[in-house]
Amino acid sequence: MSEAFGWILGIESSCDETAAAVLNNGATVAANLVASQTGLHEAYGGVVPELASRQHMETINMLIDHALAQASLTLADLHGIAVSKGPGLAGALLVGVSTAKALAYSLGIPLVGINHMEGHIYANWLADSQGQSDSQALNHDTRDIPFPLLGLVVSGGHTALAILMDHGKYRLLGQTRDDAAGEVFDKVARAMGLGYPGGPVLDRLAREGDPFAYDLPWTRLKNDPWGFSFSGLKTAVLNRINQEAMRGAELRKADLAASFQETVTAQLAEKALAAANAHGIGRILLAGGVAANSALRQKMAVSCENNGLVLYLPSLAYCTDNAAMIACAGYHRLQAGFRDDLTLNAEPSLGFNW
Ligand code: KG4
Ligand code: ZN
Repeated sequence: MSEAFGWILGIESSCDETAAAVLNNGATVAANLVASQTGLHEAYGGVVPELASRQHMETINMLIDHALAQASLTLADLHGIAVSKGPGLAGALLVGVSTAKALAYSLGIPLVGINHMEGHIYANWLADSQGQSDSQALNHDTRDIPFPLLGLVVSGGHTALAILMDHGKYRLLGQTRDDAAGEVFDKVARAMGLGYPGGPVLDRLAREGDPFAYDLPWTRLKNDPWGFSFSGLKTAVLNRINQEAMRGAELRKADLAASFQETVTAQLAEKALAAANAHGIGRILLAGGVAANSALRQKMAVSCENNGLVLYLPSLAYCTDNAAMIACAGYHRLQAGFRDDLTLNAEPSLGFNW
């Protein structure tokens, strides 16, 4: 008889967010708590690994207690535990992995380590995520997204195009050669004095600007049709900022933000569409922190609509790091029979093909 995984605890601590979530029957989020460390790292302009680990340690037990309380459960009600095992910061990941192992061992319930990127993909299976390109997709049952899908995973650490063939079966088509999409948003925002993380601030500012005000470069890679490179674009933006400063001109921040965002999102959308067409796949799934970007969501929705493709978008609450997506990926892995034992370890450089 197959086991039922009614209640799964998800744990996420790969970077600067400590998160715990409780998932019911693989799709309904009963609790989803995220304790962001942004304030802690802000003064340093980026994440300080040692500070991140210590903060995870101080937060994680309390967060799990609160998540269970919010779901009106106790530890004894859980049927399984899923935890991010990588990629990410080694010390940070270890906090989540050790906590998950200790709990699974003491409760005698199944444990599964999850690739963080796979977690992002599964944000689309959470009950209030929705497809947005046709009315049929708007009402789709989130637990029944058909494969194959063309996946575009865009976060602070990764930019990848992959064919999602089935649950847990992926074929990587291409990824970034240098900066990830979210990383370049953060770096450009920092250079413009917008703070960290820059993606959401830049997204808001861009709404007031002209996306075609600045002419910025678009890198096309020879012999790598599905790869990305954003470092040339980043340098061009930084150069524009310096040039304006040297001329004593006031930087038109909203225009620059809008032009930069237009250049990144147009590339992402164009490549995702082209990859879907080239592989005869009629459905695109977006995932990762940058999937929260309003211009990217809008562009993808319009291009998919115009090309007769169905688009799946995670709801905004589940785009950036959270533990509900980890619990959801865990649900599917546990159902498929995957189990980890107490040798489970953090895998800081875990790749996309696993
Ligand atoms: O997926 P995520 O939470 O963490 C990683 O796994 O890396 O992604 C965080 C990234 C950051 O770079 C952040 O600036 C970016 O996602 N991000 C956005 C937006 N919201 C978050 N980028 C562009 N527009 C947004 N609205
Ligand atoms: Zn992430």
